[in-house]
Amino acid sequence: MTWDFKTIIEPFRIKSVEAIPILTRPEREVALKTAAYNLFKLPAAAVTIDLLTDSGTGAMSSAQWAALMRGDESYAGSNSYFALQTVVERLTGFTNVFPCHQGRAAERILSRTVIKPGQIILNNTHFDTTRANFEAVGAVAIDLPVGSGGDFAGDMDLDALDAALAEDAARAVPLVAMVMVTVTNNAVGGQPVSMTNLRAVRERCDAANVPFFLDAARFAENAWFIKQRDPGYGDRDLESIVREMFSYADGFTMSAKKDGIVNIGGLLAVKDPDWHQQMKNELILTEGFPTYGGLAGRDLEALAVGLLEALDEDYLHYRTRTIAYFAERLQAVGVPVVMPPGGHAVYIDAHLLLPHLAADTFPGISLINALYLEGGVRAVELGSLMFPGSPRELVRLAMPRRVYTQAHVDYVIEVAERVVTRASTLPGYQITRAPAALRHFSADLAPI
Ligand code: F0G
Repeated sequence: MTWDFKTIIEPFRIKSVEAIPILTRPEREVALKTAAYNLFKLPAAAVTIDLLTDSGTGAMSSAQWAALMRGDESYAGSNSYFALQTVVERLTGFTNVFPCHQGRAAERILSRTVIKPGQIILNNTHFDTTRANFEAVGAVAIDLPVGSGGDFAGDMDLDALDAALAEDAARAVPLVAMVMVTVTNNAVGGQPVSMTNLRAVRERCDAANVPFFLDAARFAENAWFIKQRDPGYGDRDLESIVREMFSYADGFTMSAKKDGIVNIGGLLAVKDPDWHQQMKNELILTEGFPTYGGLAGRDLEALAVGLLEALDEDYLHYRTRTIAYFAERLQAVGVPVVMPPGGHAVYIDAHLLLPHLAADTFPGISLINALYLEGGVRAVELGSLMFPGSPRELVRLAMPRRVYTQAHVDYVIEVAERVVTRASTLPGYQITRAPAALRHFSADLAPI
């Protein structure tokens, strides 16, 4: 990476294009009302810029599309499995990897293998499906985020970890089933975890004789931040940083829909041979034979290519700079964003922008609906609707990988700027119908 220009360019050119829907404001008003003011219920055909998630929404490269043609659809022992296995072993050092249809499938299998009811999992911060899978087998999922800004705001709080492990050692029967670290830490804004922190967690797990797992969904972005910010890593090549990150773990889950740059897929790997065998049995129950794990052979090929492309330094430079530019420009037009931004998204503090709205009138929903009405931008609320009782009212604008250009980002900033000028007039929302669980996906809402 030798880029020394002020202008950061997208390090790719466009070979195949997809038209994006551009609606009139009256059309958006109808679409929003029809969706009962819940952006999860909007058809994609009504969305101009879709920043709902960076998961499975990336653009594959021409090399990945070409790799699809190599897909070997053999039920057992597919060539494509070995192609993927070779790349995963090169990057992580893990010799046995299971493909899964996505990250939460790996989480489900992990939880049914490693966790017994009543046990405790310690994580820097559980992603919501990870927590749900652990709780579904009767475990207690505890978050130990470091809880402050700085270069590695995604770190695990080591004092809290020490305290939790000491408390566990004092129990007649220890309850901590494993320690997990999520890289980057999505739930606190996609903030990175330092190598120092990973190493320290490993030492503590060794001392306490507790296994250590990584949730590696955004391993490449995390490795890039380590290279940029962790003392001593600036001259290391990214692959060696990735290998070191994984070297501390006894196993990992990965949603490949993020830094695997594929539209579907996940990975699960573990060193312990007994767990490996148990996981294989679980995998066969719901995902498929262990050499395809719920994916087509072609998906495995595309993932093998995507995992390496995600570590291209020009790509990661552009990717992280895009997010930083987005956050800086939003801040400049008066949008309260969480700084510094992480690797995959920008987070807006809806409570600060809309102080006239109480939590039970869902300021985050008010903001995302205003962004949609103004310019067809779809974001997601991470506040009182998604997490009842949430202390914060955040809105996430997640960037799909290699999909939108700087002009798209500038457009979203202009849309947000217009919303800011009208912030004090935006309405709160009420729920008119809600299911018992996961209400944010399907609740009907109405402006107050
Ligand atoms: N772990 C992390 C850190 C994640 O961000 C996600 C998904 C998962 C696990 C689950 O993986 O979706 O492939 O089953 N995050 C998406 C998001 C949904 O929008 O942040 P999955």
